[in-house]
Amino acid sequence: MNTEKVGNLDLNKTHLGDCMKLAKELPDDSVDLVVTSPPYADTVSYGEDIKTGVETFNSENYVDWFLQLFYETQRFLKPTGSFILNINDRATNGERNIYVFELVTRIVKETGLKLFDRYIWFKKSALPMPGEKRLNDRIEYIFHFVKDTKKFKTNTDRVREPYAEVSLKRFKNKVHGNDIINSDGTTELSQRGSSKPHPLGKKPITVFRFDTGSALRGLKHPAPFHPQLPEFFIKWLTDEEDIVLDPFMGGGTVALVCKRMNRYHIGFEINQAYIDMTKERLNDSEN
Ligand SMILES: C[S@@+](CC[C@H](N)C(=O)[O-])C[C@H]1O[C@@H](n2cnc3c(N)ncnc32)[C@H](O)[C@@H]1O
Repeated sequence: MNTEKVGNLDLNKTHLGDCMKLAKELPDDSVDLVVTSPPYADTVSYGEDIKTGVETFNSENYVDWFLQLFYETQRFLKPTGSFILNINDRATNGERNIYVFELVTRIVKETGLKLFDRYIWFKKSALPMPGEKRLNDRIEYIFHFVKDTKKFKTNTDRVREPYAEVSLKRFKNKVHGNDIINSDGTTELSQRGSSKPHPLGKKPITVFRFDTGSALRGLKHPAPFHPQLPEFFIKWLTDEEDIVLDPFMGGGTVALVCKRMNRYHIGFEINQAYIDMTKERLNDSEN
C-alpha cells in the first residue's frame, strides 16, 4: 500500500502550478504511469481569464519547453512504468507543422526514454473540415515511451477483445497465413504462430477508436479526454493502487478514471478554474 504522498506531494490531488517545476518534486522511480495530452504548440489561452503556458512556451520554443518534462520523466518514472502521450499537430499556411515528429525524435535521442510504440487514435466522432484540398483529418497520435523495454509492465489479458466472426472462421480453416506452400502448390500447416483463438479474446490493434471528449456534454473544458482513452491505458499498464500522473490535468478526466479504477492519481494544472472543475467531478462521482 502506498502512503498518501509521493515525496512531499499529496496523492489524489491536482497541484496548482507549472508542471515543469512541479515534476522536479517527484522522487526518483516513483510514478507507474503518465497519461496526458499537452496544450497545442500554438495555444495561447483557454479563454479570456484562462491563460495557459503562454508565459512559458510559444510555437517556436515548444519542443525545448516540452522536453524538460521528459528529462524529469526519465528520473521519476519507475522502470516498470510507461508514459502515454496523446498529441496532435495542426496545418497552418498550407503546411502541416512537424513539431510532433521533432519532439518524438528529440525525446528518444536526448532523454534516454525509449519509444516502445506509436498508436493512432481514429476519432469516431469529429466534425468535417472546411476546404477542398485537405482530406478530413480524423486521427491523433499516441506515443508510448518507457524507461526500460524489458522491465515495463503490461496486462494484455485485461484488455483482450472478442474476436470478429470472420477471424473465428479463419481459425477453423485449415489454411493459415503462416502456412508453408510446397513446390507442388499444396499447403502444410505451419507449426509457428497460434492456430487456436486465445480463450480471453484477441489482442487490441494499434488503432484505437475512442470517442472525443467533446462528446461529453456539459464539461466546461475545451479539450478534455474522453474517459475511454485513459481507461484503456490504465487497465493495460497499471495495477490497483499504482500511481498515475497527468501533468496537464485539465478538467480531471485522468483523476476521475483513477478513482473508478482504484489507482492513486496526481495532477498538475496551471489553472485554478480547472482544478475546481476536477474537484467537482470527483465529488459528483461519489453521489
Ligand atoms: C489539452 S488540456 C488537458 C485536458 C485533460 N486531458 C482533460 O481530460 O481535461 C491541457 C491542459 O494543460 C494545462 N496547462 C498548460 N500549460 C501548463 C503547465 N505549464 N503546467 C500545468 N498545466 C498546464 C492547460 O490549462 C490545460 O488545462
